[in-house]
Amino acid sequence: MTATISIDGKGADYPVHAGSIGPEVIDIRKLYGNTGRFTYDPGFTSTASCESKITYIDGDQGVLLHRGYPIEQLAEHSSFLEVAYLLLNGELPNQKEHDEFKYLITRHTMVHEQLATFYRGFRRDAHPMAIMCGVVGALSAFYHDSTDIHDPKQREIACHRLIAKMPTIAAMAYKYSVGQPFLYPKNSLSYTGNFLRMTFGVPAEEYEINPVVEDALDKIFILHADHEQNASTSTVRLAGSSGANPFACIAAGIACLWGPAHGGANEAALEMLREIGRPERIPEYIARAKNKDDPFRLMGFGHRVYKNYDPRAKVLGAAATKVLDTLGISDPVLDTARELERIALSDDYFIEKKLYPNVDFYSGIILSAIGFPTSMFTALFALARTTGWIAQWTEMMEDTDQRIGRPRQLYTGHGPRDYVPLAQRG
Ligand code: SDX
Repeated sequence: MTATISIDGKGADYPVHAGSIGPEVIDIRKLYGNTGRFTYDPGFTSTASCESKITYIDGDQGVLLHRGYPIEQLAEHSSFLEVAYLLLNGELPNQKEHDEFKYLITRHTMVHEQLATFYRGFRRDAHPMAIMCGVVGALSAFYHDSTDIHDPKQREIACHRLIAKMPTIAAMAYKYSVGQPFLYPKNSLSYTGNFLRMTFGVPAEEYEINPVVEDALDKIFILHADHEQNASTSTVRLAGSSGANPFACIAAGIACLWGPAHGGANEAALEMLREIGRPERIPEYIARAKNKDDPFRLMGFGHRVYKNYDPRAKVLGAAATKVLDTLGISDPVLDTARELERIALSDDYFIEKKLYPNVDFYSGIILSAIGFPTSMFTALFALARTTGWIAQWTEMMEDTDQRIGRPRQLYTGHGPRDYVPLAQRG
């Protein structure tokens, strides 16, 4: 099938490609050559930047599939490490593959001793995402044996190192912020249990992992692992398209994720819920969110793709109640969140704009109950999303059609003009 685009009576046909599921795409690569014109799509609301087999989202139906498996089933039955294998390799591992992958990742969890000195350069109150940007970027200075990105084996070891070391680096960022010593990884623990011990354990005593917390956090990591061509994933792909070092590409993704419109929303959402405080103050904030003259937005609400309930928010909403009940924690913020959701979802503004809770609305309540400060929330998002980023980076590197990403623009600045010497300027 083709799509005809005609301008000034001159038309040309452009191929329409169909995927396995989801919207077809119009291949406009020849548009500029044919018409001397670009497409214009700020924010890429109607633009497919690549072909991918990793994650599929149906925003209208609230569907999220990883390699075809629904996120609800993966959250219920899988583990984060198994989902990481799935995202990277395309299939769920059999027992041998699972054990080999777990062995590989477990043995890459330590970081070079020199890396610990990078933390010393930060103030103790540095935001963990600032530390993550710096330290993950610094990894690119350590692994000269895995920088030939055209060698599949070196690409694979870079992937394993990143998945394995992110928990260690994130835990070290937390420890540094509270002035406690770093703990080394312990190979006998699960991926998520190891992270909990490195974060909350101290050398003075054995750390006892709460299985409820370990399970809830592993589920949270699964729910944050990948999400199609979101802003930070697109950042990693664009950085990688120039042939940049994979560790540096992931640092670029971390920087993008930090923004409150993206991964930073989990920290902002809990701060918003705490600021609202009591359910009776909710109408005031709903009114602010609807006020065009007020930049305030309901954090954890709305999504570029989901125009239905974010399936991850559904799982997290249920998990929040279960985790707090099991831990015997009563957090009034959860009641405020539930009431805010109820009021917003019955308000015409939110209904007509199809604004629903997204992945960031409930996650902070669980993370806070587990004991993380809000400043660590986005670092945890980055820890989990590193798996999706590196799977997408790998897919791009294996794409024979891959070229450096280089968008164009609609130029509205000055036309050519001559230089004016300083003495002649007004
Ligand atoms: C993530 O892309 C991904 O997949 C991201 C993510 C992932 O896993 O990688 O899912 C993770 O980033 C989730 C989103 C976290 N961000 C927030 O919760 C911040 C609050 N939400 C918004 O800022 C907003 O909804 C975005 C950024 C998420 C989406 O922005 P869009 O798609 O550009 O939509 P928009 O800003 O054009 O909003 C459409 C309309 C606007 O009103 P009009 O100008 O049409 O009158 O809806 C309004 C907006 O004002 N609107 C909101 C709102 N979100 C959108 N109004 C009040 N509160 C909100 N939260």
